[in-house]
Amino acid sequence: MKITYFGHSCFGIETSHVRLLFDPFITPNQLAANIKVDEIVADYIFITHGHEDHIADAVHIAKRTGATVVANYEIIQWLSKQGVEKTHPMNTGGKWTFDFGMVQMVPAFHSSSLPDGTYGGNPIGYVMQLAGYTFYFAGDTALYSDMRLIGEQYNLDFAFLPIGSNFTMDIHDALRATQLIDTNKIFGMHYDTFPYIKIDKEGAVSLAEKEGIKLHLLPVGGFHQMQQ
Ligand code: NI
Ligand code: MN
Repeated sequence: MKITYFGHSCFGIETSHVRLLFDPFITPNQLAANIKVDEIVADYIFITHGHEDHIADAVHIAKRTGATVVANYEIIQWLSKQGVEKTHPMNTGGKWTFDFGMVQMVPAFHSSSLPDGTYGGNPIGYVMQLAGYTFYFAGDTALYSDMRLIGEQYNLDFAFLPIGSNFTMDIHDALRATQLIDTNKIFGMHYDTFPYIKIDKEGAVSLAEKEGIKLHLLPVGGFHQMQQ
């Protein structure tokens, strides 16, 4: 399994069977200027909420690749109006087994409106089982105590957590979240893209290390190969 970082909260996850893309925000992201959006491949695109910094390139990539877009019901309606044909609506708490594995939509504490002001439903995160791994993609969220339920229900191998503060959890809350969800391997996201979310990356990594947590902060365009 290969995990590629396209900047902000956008990751690609690739196995020999499937290519997943999360929260595409590339063309408006100055830190992702070197990413060629027209070369990104995807069989599925997962959207956590309607904010521009999570959905900016979704319509374009979905139409080019023919990927199935998964999001909450309201976001799927909005995407459909823009001509995205392959979609799968879900909502908070729901599970579905796709051809690659199980996906559960879990709560996120945040807000969600679409770039044109349309109501975006509730923000969410995902728990997924793929190629023998179980992971949590938190989306934009505050720390909340029911994250513990994810840790109780699943044996997570790793998680993607926002760490930029101001709009989401900071590194301190993200480290508390790792205790609740019970994992020791996390990929940081939603940091450095805008002035409000600039962080001390080395400080965050060493803070995590002190708690026995491996925090991966991938360079934009960089990737991490999971051992199996
Ligand atoms: Ni947001
Ligand atoms: Mn965001």
